[in-house]
Amino acid sequence: MRLEGKVALVTGAARGIGRGIAHRFAEEGASVGIMDLDAVACQTVVDEITEAEGNALEVHADISDPTQVNAAVAKLQEHFGTITVLMNNAAVMPAGALHETPLEDFDRCLAVNLRGTYLVCSAVIPGMLSVQNGSIIHMASVTGLLGLPGIAVYSMTKGALIALGRVMSTDYAKQGIRTNTVSPGTIDSPMLHDFLAAQSRPEELRQEFNDMHPIGRVGTIQEVANVCLFLASDEASFVSGSNYEVDGGLSSKGEQPQD
Ligand SMILES: NC(=O)c1ccc[n+]([C@@H]2O[C@H](COP(=O)([O-])OP(=O)(O)OC[C@H]3O[C@@H](n4cnc5c(N)ncnc54)[C@H](O)[C@@H]3O)[C@@H](O)[C@H]2O)c1
Repeated sequence: MRLEGKVALVTGAARGIGRGIAHRFAEEGASVGIMDLDAVACQTVVDEITEAEGNALEVHADISDPTQVNAAVAKLQEHFGTITVLMNNAAVMPAGALHETPLEDFDRCLAVNLRGTYLVCSAVIPGMLSVQNGSIIHMASVTGLLGLPGIAVYSMTKGALIALGRVMSTDYAKQGIRTNTVSPGTIDSPMLHDFLAAQSRPEELRQEFNDMHPIGRVGTIQEVANVCLFLASDEASFVSGSNYEVDGGLSSKGEQPQD
């Protein structure tokens, strides 16, 4: 029960990695706010967690909308108390090189991945300051560290989140709030399935993703959730301003010899 007594908010928790993190946090004793766009999808995750004897509450919101975010954070805190674990996980991923990305997609990506993070943090941090305690985790990506082709704007936002994690760790260090960033490699998730389904040769591409990671496969949702759990817990009490690469060695491998 590594999160016993803690109240956690997970954004983008209706599916994929966010859903896995919400389950993991609840298994370890946290009361978890399930935030995502769709109330019904959020409630489904709440029901799953409740069935497993955990505590969760549906707090749907579009994280790019300040009114919705503030109302959802207030609802969660009224129900469970002050949020001391914040998992900023929700994101969107437009594909394409920079000049191929429509302005509308660029604006939406920044609105969710960056403005959304700003809004949720701004709503949650006053509570953390009032109790001088908190762990904030931003979900970045190895795309924020490496020049992987074809996802320019998404990568730009993930690099920004890594920078934000560092600066927040120093801004709030004396007030008991730790901030860290997690950068997964490719993870076997609905986001990956959607991406592969839109490609002409999905099986071949899936194998390429496996081969790209030195460990020889893509990661699992559970492997990402376990690292987030550690960072959320008091076991990570001296860990702040770090970026955890959960990528099977991908970001550490240099140039590979070509056949
Ligand atoms: N899947 C991967 O391979 C991979 C790799 C590296 C990083 N990541 C990161 O992990 C996180 C989760 O990815 P995933 O694969 O589970 O993606 P996903 O698309 O399956 O889930 C993202 C969730 O965020 C929600 N969301 C989107 N916009 C929102 C908004 N405005 N307000 C509230 N919720 C919103 C979606 O509805 C969805 O449920 C993202 O930050 C992603 O960038 C994923």
